[in-house]
Amino acid sequence: MAAAAAAAATMIPQDVPMDLPVIDLDVFLNQPRDSPEVQAECIKAANALITYGALVLHDSRVAEEDNSAFLDLLEDYFAQPEEDLKKDERPELHYQIGVTLENTEKPKCAVDEPCLNVIARLAPSERPLDISAHSPDPKCRFFWKMVEPPPYATKFPGLNAANVVPQTPHIKERWAPTMDKWGASMKNAVEGLTEMTAVGLGLPAETFKDAGRYGPHLLAPTASDLTKYGQKDTILAGFHTDLNFLTIHGRSRYPGLHIWARNTGKRIAVKIPPGNHLLVQAGKQLEHITGGLIKAGFHEVVVNDRTVEVIEARTRQFPDRPLVRISSTFFWHLSSDHDLTPIPAAAGKAKKLRAEAYNLGRDEGDEVVYEPMLVGELVQNELRHIALMT
Ligand SMILES: [Fe+2]
Repeated sequence: MAAAAAAAATMIPQDVPMDLPVIDLDVFLNQPRDSPEVQAECIKAANALITYGALVLHDSRVAEEDNSAFLDLLEDYFAQPEEDLKKDERPELHYQIGVTLENTEKPKCAVDEPCLNVIARLAPSERPLDISAHSPDPKCRFFWKMVEPPPYATKFPGLNAANVVPQTPHIKERWAPTMDKWGASMKNAVEGLTEMTAVGLGLPAETFKDAGRYGPHLLAPTASDLTKYGQKDTILAGFHTDLNFLTIHGRSRYPGLHIWARNTGKRIAVKIPPGNHLLVQAGKQLEHITGGLIKAGFHEVVVNDRTVEVIEARTRQFPDRPLVRISSTFFWHLSSDHDLTPIPAAAGKAKKLRAEAYNLGRDEGDEVVYEPMLVGELVQNELRHIALMT
């Protein structure tokens, strides 16, 4: 009895269940492309992105132990003294490679009117934590690119600089293999999803995958020091959307990621189910190329009640481990030189859906014009808006 009580006391609490569709990549990879099961799963994937801007992806190739090895490495890395971390900073490259230390990244939304309007349209109970003071996010970040260099002269070479490998001995040797293994898992999974999404939208399967072949993909974990920022309602990453095509999250050891389902206005506390699952959310490039049919998903990372419970449980269970919240995030991009002109079929459907939403009395805000441009131009425009304190 006492043993059972002790076990219960040290159990890691679970977050509330999440109401997002689960898409099975195994069905797509293992069954004939023209089978009804594959077609149905692809339509489910596309509809999930249209309705929620997010989905849970099941891929049996994704191994929990690769995620654990990655989280252990990043916890060890960010537990280092600041002077060691600073050696991996590249401010001259606008922090697009290597480490970004805490209080550097500012949430764009706090100074962006369309984004503030999104918050204003949410019911008060569904709003993110108040970002109006717009102080920079108290989180660190590491950008590790996972790219295939383009076989042509790119117009955007600034986005294609060399990776930084940390030089601390016990981290250096583990770094590249661990980052590449977990990063490749997430990259393969999301590339499968790009094919499913294209099929579900009635496009050739390779439409997005080919368009992203030479994209500046980034494994981009964040780290939040919970000994400093573990109080309830601390904002670790303020309300925002991502500028890439799709963002993938592996399972974090600490809850706290909230996402907003586009067509429901509901805040969802993310819990990735155990066993080969990833969370995928739409970014700005997917929004642009579909003419707004799929909208970039808003999200925030905060310390909520469940984060606090897990901090307490892990402090008891693993007193010798660093108390750092690592998010294993992967940004999948289209190639910088790819033409981002909205695909006419998708843009037409977007207009229809917008009219339907309007007739149902749902306010989706001002109509957005998706001008033809290259992917690299969209990225540069977005980066110009993100205030970086250097
Ligand atoms: Fe984000």
